[in-house]
Amino acid sequence: MRKDISKITWFREAGVGLFIHWGVYSAIGRGEWVMQNERIPLADYDKYIPEFTADKYNPDEWAQLAKIAGMRYMVLTTKHHDGFCLFDTATTNRNAVRQGPERDLVKEYVEACRRYELKVGLYFSLPDWSIQAFNDGPENAPEAWAAFISLIHEQVRELCANYGKIDVIWYDRAGNLNGVSPITAESVRALELNAMIRELQPDILINDRSELPEDFYTAEQNIKPPLDKERLWEACLTMNKHWGYFPADDLYKSAKEIVHTLTGIASYRGNMLLNVGPKPDGTIVKPELERLEALGQWLSVHREAIENVSPGPVSGGTYGCSSIRGDSVYLYVHWWHGSSITIANCAMEFTSGVIMGTNQAVTIQRDGKHIKLLDLPASAPDYLCSVIKLSLKK
Ligand code: GLC
Repeated sequence: MRKDISKITWFREAGVGLFIHWGVYSAIGRGEWVMQNERIPLADYDKYIPEFTADKYNPDEWAQLAKIAGMRYMVLTTKHHDGFCLFDTATTNRNAVRQGPERDLVKEYVEACRRYELKVGLYFSLPDWSIQAFNDGPENAPEAWAAFISLIHEQVRELCANYGKIDVIWYDRAGNLNGVSPITAESVRALELNAMIRELQPDILINDRSELPEDFYTAEQNIKPPLDKERLWEACLTMNKHWGYFPADDLYKSAKEIVHTLTGIASYRGNMLLNVGPKPDGTIVKPELERLEALGQWLSVHREAIENVSPGPVSGGTYGCSSIRGDSVYLYVHWWHGSSITIANCAMEFTSGVIMGTNQAVTIQRDGKHIKLLDLPASAPDYLCSVIKLSLKK
């Protein structure tokens, strides 16, 4: 990737990134909300820390995988709602340097990202179930709350000061153990927090979950774009139904569904942040590996069709959806249904068309208000999603 481009440009061109949910909860294996969902007392939860071994943790392998999958950035949970820090911090003993792996997992991750020219994203949960003040809320214990906010400001400062260039701060929100959501922009002093981040990291992108809009909008488990069409945005999605490692959940989306979803997001100028939930030893499970490889294969042929495109200029009709960049219109054919495709009510004129990844030209015929693409192969040239690239008449 070009190195000198602006933060807006790299994000717009990125297309896909790898989200990684990993922490003590991975050792329990029932998702990252297990402490809350099963009301596990903190002392009992922390008994799992030694099982969060990271003994096969090799972030170079994650980075290689992200590259193979055609991704441009990664986002790692440096601290999830359980409050356990994967980085070295002076604020708490509940961190991976003092306990469990006894390694600075974030440092190794950041270095691997750089080695593989991936942009570095750090997820940071503002909520922290391990801190009583968060569970009590600002009204009930104002002084303890103030101390809690100072603590998270300090943790964010450590993340932004100690690891070199960081490209994305990915905040998260959630309720406390009493089911109340005490995080507001005011209650966490988000203006001040984000100003500090920008002071330390002038080129950083900050997401919208400190309850201030900042640089980009996050859709979660859906692909609805923001109303402001110029706003940067990203849809984060799981491959099965959970973020953190949960071997009982085998309800995986197919690679085909993942690619279809990506084309839907890309055609609205968004990025897809696709999640993996590594095991406590740091390895990634086979169904996730397989899907990342399939995605990479598809992107190796079709990347130009999802990079910095704008929403479909022609109707999707029965075939799927479309996008445009410059003089090229991309038809994402989700439903390849035989040797012809109709683009209904199309005023645009095209000089030529080709099925991407093949040399096969497409016959284009005007039929009144509609355009017909003819002499197509009977079955889909690409099982995941074939793309027809049409050239606009100037
Ligand atoms: C949801 C989950 C949280 C996860 C996040 C990712 O908010 O509750 O655990 O980290 O999605 O966007």
